[in-house]
Amino acid sequence: MQKNSGTLTGRFAAISAVALALVAAIAAPASAQNLPLQKPWKTIAEYKKDYVRPTKVPYLAENPYTPEKERLGQMLFFDPRLSGSNAVACANCHLPGMAWTDGVAKSVGEKGAIHVRNAPTLFNLAWTEQTAWDGRTEYLEGHVKGPIGNPRVMGQPADQLIAELGAIGGYRDAFKAAFPKDGITMDNVMRAIAVFERGLVSGEAPFDHWIKGNEKAISESAKRGFMLFNTKADCAACHSGWSFTDQSFYDIGLSDADEGRIKIIKLASMNHAFKTPTLREIGRTAPYMHDGSIANLTKVVEHYNRGGDVKRESVSEHVRPLNLTKAEIGDIVDFLLSLDAPDKPYPVPSLPMVDHKAP
Ligand code: HEC
Ligand code: HEC
Repeated sequence: MQKNSGTLTGRFAAISAVALALVAAIAAPASAQNLPLQKPWKTIAEYKKDYVRPTKVPYLAENPYTPEKERLGQMLFFDPRLSGSNAVACANCHLPGMAWTDGVAKSVGEKGAIHVRNAPTLFNLAWTEQTAWDGRTEYLEGHVKGPIGNPRVMGQPADQLIAELGAIGGYRDAFKAAFPKDGITMDNVMRAIAVFERGLVSGEAPFDHWIKGNEKAISESAKRGFMLFNTKADCAACHSGWSFTDQSFYDIGLSDADEGRIKIIKLASMNHAFKTPTLREIGRTAPYMHDGSIANLTKVVEHYNRGGDVKRESVSEHVRPLNLTKAEIGDIVDFLLSLDAPDKPYPVPSLPMVDHKAP
């Protein structure tokens, strides 16, 4: 599960290919410069086809779905006893009521420690290979041990966690049901939580009803916003596909000191680069960006409209002054808000308790 150089090499090759394409674009004749990079534009009906929801959630062959694993993973996710202080659950920073984020710029972890980055949503990560803002972890399985062991996040050494879980009868049963062969192990904690997280798929939003044919599902302003998103504003260059992410990494010209993905992959274009996040449920995950530095969606679009805040070699070609009017910015925000599914209560699981008859 801790793989795999194959995937990383593949990703590296893909990034190099993008870099080459950009070099080619820069070298194009003067007449072709300054045009939106993805011309010729398509029709609205054609763009709609790019955003159809998938019908199946992909699971890893080495960690297939079972209801027992999902149920166990959900309990573990909501259980503060996974932390050293027994006070910090995964759900402290990934709350179901806030689209699996926490509403603050930088999350608060074990003993009040402030995290260095903003907590991203956990929606639609079944489709993601490189997890975390800088893609340092592989798949969802690979992003379980880190937060549990990190003293500033949950601060619980693996051996202590396994001993604690083993002392709770309900967990012994739940692990046995999910993993009959080896029961409570750290690998199985990772597997169960990852299976639970793969099931977190953003719900059908007004936008989805619109692309299925209901013209009344979203406002005229949101429709104009969708067209701008795909054309003049160039957002779809990176926020592409049904979940609005190409799963790649870019520097979009934010001014904080965090160097991002270049710490993982030594490629100049990865300086200050972070993963393109999904835009599903985007109205519910403020504040925005890896540093939580942008308070609302109007300010996000204004950031792109002025071509970012810093000039650096690594800033993507797609981040450049867009000349959007105030009304056009409003249209794009209306479109983004059409990606929020209607609110639905989320039932929190009940957690196994101590063995009352144990001596
Ligand atoms: C103290 C707050 C906090 C706690 C507790 C916490 N997280 Fe996170 N989580 C974050 C932050 C902040 C990030 C972004 C870190 C980064 O990218 O460097 C993150 C990132 C993630 C990601 C990557 C998302 C993506 O888009 O790739 C996953 C998956 C995740 N957390 C799952 C978990 C799980 C599972 C647990 C419990 C075992 C957990 N988190 C506990 C704050 C927290
Ligand atoms: C060059 C690729 C690229 C382009 C073009 C682009 N984005 Fe982004 N977007 C990203 C990346 C990468 C991030 C995360 C950046 C970070 O945190 O450092 C991001 C973050 C965001 C966020 C915040 C998401 C969150 O969960 O914090 C929103 C909203 C957003 N973009 C909307 C847009 C809109 C609207 C446009 C067009 C006006 C656009 N983006 C154009 C790559 C891009």
